[in-house]
Amino acid sequence: MSINLAVFASGAGSNAEKIIDYFNHHQSKKNIRVTLIVCNKPGAGVLNIAGNNNIPSVLIEKERFFRGDGYVPVLKAAKIEVVILAGFLWKVPTALVHAYNGKILNIHPALLPKYGGKGMYGNFVHEAVIAAGDAESGITIHVVDEQYDHGHHIFQAFCPVLPGDTPASLAARIHTLEHANYPRVIEEFINHEIED
Ligand code: GRF
Repeated sequence: MSINLAVFASGAGSNAEKIIDYFNHHQSKKNIRVTLIVCNKPGAGVLNIAGNNNIPSVLIEKERFFRGDGYVPVLKAAKIEVVILAGFLWKVPTALVHAYNGKILNIHPALLPKYGGKGMYGNFVHEAVIAAGDAESGITIHVVDEQYDHGHHIFQAFCPVLPGDTPASLAARIHTLEHANYPRVIEEFINHEIED
């Protein structure tokens, strides 16, 4: 018995790499493995990470993703049980949400419900947190539904926003929180929510 994960990413893939490493070096109760990388950006760093780990990757196109089958047949053919979004910038289409209902997780680099929604990604989020003068930020891991950054929260972690912080320095602190927590939270979610 193993649980195959597909990790969706659009950028550097540092979270994807931590998740791959975690399950490669950590004996999970349900033998969880990242067996597919899905990307929507040619040349994205995450594609190199897939290659370095001998994990097949799929470069997806907008037309099929949004107006076709959402690549569900590709995921099913790869025996994917759970979908992990890690810096994936496209909204998940209904076909995919329905096919993997309650089995898609996303990580957002802020304390939802604040600073979420369309256009709120990467440095735009950190700029908004700093501009608002918030003393605290953090990460939110949630189950994905048909709205941006909206589904049920399963985990949040917090960090300070320090005087003189820039979007880059806050982003670095947030990345540390993400890398330290996302793999473990995925494992706990699967152990509790995904049938054997
Ligand atoms: C992460 O901060 C994630 O929360 C956000 O996009 C960033 C992706 O970083 N949605 P990486 O590609 O995993 O390095």
